[in-house]
Amino acid sequence: PVLVVDFGAQYAQLIARRVREANVYSEIVPHTMPAAEMLARDPAAIVLSGGPSSVYAEGAPALEEAVVTAGVPVLGICYGFQAMAHALGGQVARTGAREYGDTTAAVTDTGSTLFAGQPGSQQVWMSHGDAVTTAPPGTRVTATTPGAEVAAFEDDDRRLYGVQWHPEVLHSAHGQEILTNFLVSGAGIEPTWTSGNVAEQLVEDVRAKVGKDRVLCGLSGGVDSSVAAALVQRAVGDQLTCVFVDHGLLREGEAEQVEEDFVAATGVDLVVVDARERFLSALAGVSDPEEKRKIIGREFIRVFEQAARDVVRAHEASHEDDHPVRWLVQGTLYPDVVESGGGTGAANIKSHHNVGGLPDDLQFELIEPLRALFKDEVRQVGLELGVPEGIVWRQPFPGPGLGIRIVGEVTADRLDVLRRADAIARAELTAAGLDRDIWQCPVVLLADVRSVGVQGDGRTYGHPVVLRPVSSEDAMTADWTRVPYDVLARISSRITNEVPEVNRVVLDVTSKPPGTIEWE
Ligand code: XMP
Repeated sequence: PVLVVDFGAQYAQLIARRVREANVYSEIVPHTMPAAEMLARDPAAIVLSGGPSSVYAEGAPALEEAVVTAGVPVLGICYGFQAMAHALGGQVARTGAREYGDTTAAVTDTGSTLFAGQPGSQQVWMSHGDAVTTAPPGTRVTATTPGAEVAAFEDDDRRLYGVQWHPEVLHSAHGQEILTNFLVSGAGIEPTWTSGNVAEQLVEDVRAKVGKDRVLCGLSGGVDSSVAAALVQRAVGDQLTCVFVDHGLLREGEAEQVEEDFVAATGVDLVVVDARERFLSALAGVSDPEEKRKIIGREFIRVFEQAARDVVRAHEASHEDDHPVRWLVQGTLYPDVVESGGGTGAANIKSHHNVGGLPDDLQFELIEPLRALFKDEVRQVGLELGVPEGIVWRQPFPGPGLGIRIVGEVTADRLDVLRRADAIARAELTAAGLDRDIWQCPVVLLADVRSVGVQGDGRTYGHPVVLRPVSSEDAMTADWTRVPYDVLARISSRITNEVPEVNRVVLDVTSKPPGTIEWE
């Protein structure tokens, strides 16, 4: 792999994704990993990420010289660039010329490997206080910016490269080309990592791991569990049984998408548990959001547990074979792995997935076929495996579903009203081509609020719904999306016309923070 050494800023994941976008497999390692351990993984190249600090600051993350002298091709970025310069005998100093944001870099060496095929002047995105003042011996300076005389250097013989700016961010106009030039021309790596052969490899891995044993998977209808299930199905066929708990809190058409389209496209053996009544009774009379979340989570586990037991018993009773139901599929993704321990081993994974905490008599080993992938790669693999586009491109949807989008008690009637309003909003946003611009757009029913309206000749006394379109990278922070007025107007007029219980549509213009994305 290409190792991306994480110096503690938020850029390592982005770099790893960009490397993969260049069709080269990459993994993130913490800067605390000893050089010997990094080199033992036989990296095809090493990328040193940006970081928050100055190389001279107390406690600044150190770079072992061995990383840049072992003969492995290295690209240093921002802090990584300075740490590399420092380790190779160059000078880094606090010049006082802070650069932050967009600036222009002048390429000063037309024979440069990193900048081959690019204009001599390019927009780059900077964020630094220190600067390299003297390039390391044996390297040549290849670019400058107004605030950094040595903004890039390279040494083709030792295959060492560095840039002061951030090629991984989109504001750097030729950033992706710089990364590709490093990987392909500088490091000599063949760019062969594609969704097609990734899928193939993952299928083979699952097949080897599972053998003849049987596998269980909880399907939520979301992207991750669907792609994981499709992958395992491709690997071991009907050794896999999927359980889909219909809790009645999904949006219009979603249960059908799982029960019909997904099954038709992938051929998975699916057990559907219709638990709609059970969830409704458990939620009766409850308005408090935390209470609702607890109830939904608890009921979900119970229903899944029971279904899992049934699958195990049915298998044992059938005497089909002696292979136990041994594995449970989880749709864990790479960012979860990195966040919970640097991706170096079987660190504890955030248990944010719907299936967790199963009781002792149900002991499964986890199989996590997507744990090396980013979300966009999971989608590509899903398409490769024939998972329906409606599922592959599904926006995030919370486990507790519409249960936390009805402010007030959850009832069958209210779910029905919200489902109709939500379907209209989704259809119009899709028709306007906004699906990929919007992270997600919860539609929230203010079930305990009523307002006066007028329609036809009559007074109405209905409920408002809230549109909550947000833009985000990772749901940790978000901004409200500036959906064009004419699209909002269409959504509003269609909802108030077609859903008689709703007589007002309002727009949530709060960012996160302070507002969360969901209302409850
Ligand atoms: P908030 O409302 O915290 O939401 O800004 C952040 C993201 O998480 C989703 N979300 C959930 N997902 N189970 C989930 O699987 C949950 O209980 C849950 N609550 C919120 C939300 O839709 C958004 O994408």
